[in-house]
Amino acid sequence: MAKKTGKRTWMNRHVNDPWVQRSQKEGYRSRASYKLLELDDRHGLLKPGRIVVDLGAAPGGWSQVAAERVRPNGLVVALDLLPMEPLAGVQVIQADFEEEAGLDALLSALPDGRADLVLSDLSPNISGVRVADQARSMGLAELALELAQQVLRPGGSLVVKLFHGAGFDAWVATARPLFAALRIRKPEASRAESREVYAVAEDFRPA
Ligand SMILES: C[S@@+](CC[C@H](N)C(=O)[O-])C[C@H]1O[C@@H](n2cnc3c(N)ncnc32)[C@H](O)[C@@H]1O
Repeated sequence: MAKKTGKRTWMNRHVNDPWVQRSQKEGYRSRASYKLLELDDRHGLLKPGRIVVDLGAAPGGWSQVAAERVRPNGLVVALDLLPMEPLAGVQVIQADFEEEAGLDALLSALPDGRADLVLSDLSPNISGVRVADQARSMGLAELALELAQQVLRPGGSLVVKLFHGAGFDAWVATARPLFAALRIRKPEASRAESREVYAVAEDFRPA
């Protein structure tokens, strides 16, 4: 019974959500598109010709925005555990980013193994055990930062979803010296009750 109520509450919230309604009207695959649109309007991360990695890409809301804005001559390499419908200008890889094979597939899809921008909206399946969920989320954010260090061209940028809690300050302290600027943003489309925020790190300066 309790489960049924929970599902109904989620469904009510979903259908009444103005961002969901807008995404359906405007042809975006998820409400998440508006988070990236806002971050990009503010920071100018997506430009024609850029090579973009989109981690945790399904169902493809961020990839749609990125592909639109790097056109012409740009490329989005999108990776997720889940299948994703094809999109023009997007190379989709269905793989686990935590596995060596997933990382290898991603690296070989990048021209010269390099990217101008790494995006990570990765979030693990929520178990409900808060400490474990936070640790898994921060683990994914750490892997995204490692990938950025491996593939970003000097001057490149990184956008990573983070959750306030254990490991947050340590992640920021590790990432900050690698970039000329690092800011924490909470886009309007991000639910107020969620601890989710986005780190936007610009102008990569390899050691
Ligand atoms: C919030 S959703 C991403 C929404 C997407 N940015 C959009 O705009 O439509 C988070 C995604 O992270 C993916 N994910 C979680 N862990 C992963 C892993 N280890 N490897 C690949 N994808 C993963 C999930 O499958 C899920 O699709």
